[in-house]
Amino acid sequence: MRYGFGCDHAGFELKEPLMAELAAAGHEVIDVGTYDAERVDFPVYAHKVAQAVSTGELDMGLLVCGTGLGMALAAGKYPNVRAVSVSESFSARMARRHNDANVLCLGARVLGTGAAVEILQAWLQEDFLGGRYAERLEMMRGGYKGVERNSSRC
Ligand code: RB5
Repeated sequence: MRYGFGCDHAGFELKEPLMAELAAAGHEVIDVGTYDAERVDFPVYAHKVAQAVSTGELDMGLLVCGTGLGMALAAGKYPNVRAVSVSESFSARMARRHNDANVLCLGARVLGTGAAVEILQAWLQEDFLGGRYAERLEMMRGGYKGVERNSSRC
C-alpha cells in the first residue's frame, strides 16, 4: 500500500522507527515532512497526508504529533478520511477491523518508541471486516435509516 507519513516537531523522534516499520512490512512510504525537530504547525502535515488519502492518491496515512489528537482532528475533516488517535494496540486493531480507519495518529509525548511500533504492527495486521461494519460506515456518511435497536447486530 502507499502510506503517507507526516509529523510535527513533537513527533519527529518517532519518524525513523515508524517509517522503517512500514517499509519492513512492504509498504511504500511517502514522507511529507517535517524533516527536522524545528517547531512547526501540525495541521500543515495532517493536511498533506489527509488530502492525498481523501483523493485516493494515497491508501493510508500515519501521522505523529505530541498527543496524536491534533493530527486526528485535522485529518478527520477531509472526505473519506477516517483518522483515529490511538495509544494502545487493541484500539488500533479495532479501528481497522470495525471502523476501516485509514489514518493512524500517534502521540510521541504519550508513547515510547516500542509502544508506538507495537501499535503500528497491530494496525498493519488487521483488515476491515465489512458487512454490518460497512453499513455503519454508510450510516456515518449520512445514510442513517432510523433503526435504533437491532439485537442481531452486536
Ligand atoms: C505541539 O506542541 C503539540 O501541540 C502538537 O504536537 C500536538 O500534540 C497537537 O495536538
